[in-house]
Amino acid sequence: MRLQLSMIVALLCLLPVDTSFSQDEQSKKPSKKSADSVSFKNDVFPIVEKSCLPCHAADNFNKSELSLDDYETMKAGGENGPVWVAGKSTESLLVRKLKETPPFGERMPMNSKKKIAAGKAKWLTEEEIKTIARWIDEGAKNN
Ligand code: HEC
Repeated sequence: MRLQLSMIVALLCLLPVDTSFSQDEQSKKPSKKSADSVSFKNDVFPIVEKSCLPCHAADNFNKSELSLDDYETMKAGGENGPVWVAGKSTESLLVRKLKETPPFGERMPMNSKKKIAAGKAKWLTEEEIKTIARWIDEGAKNN
């Protein structure tokens, strides 16, 4: 029986084990939703109710024949047709009539010449006009 002398060198390899989990911690902070869509019921109608209904209610028609009582009557438009083009606020009367140079007639909400001359006219704020414009740009939905 031959005794083989073989030296077996066992190399103990210590493999470095990476125990550090370098997981990227993703902060799931909800980004502020400035992209929230504008609601007809909650955002647009309250403006109309406060600033327009005094003159644009169905039982209180002015010569524009535009009733702003609710979504359906608004959608029907007035003497000059529909007051909005869904998706295009810049082409919509509902926005154009609120600006300094309306396409016809008076700037809305209508103020007396006396008030305008005295610098006491009450117009919608930039913010309110933007809200209505955004709602139209988002499709003018009954939301
Ligand atoms: C003090 C009364 C008064 C108020 C308040 C008022 N309107 Fe008017 N509106 C009128 C009169 C009168 C006309 C017709 C003459 C004109 O077009 O300038 C008119 C016309 C319009 C027209 C044109 C409709 C068409 O088919 O000819 C639009 C659009 C309109 N108003 C939107 C508004 C909006 C939006 C508001 C509120 C922000 C508003 N109005 C507030 C009196 C008013």
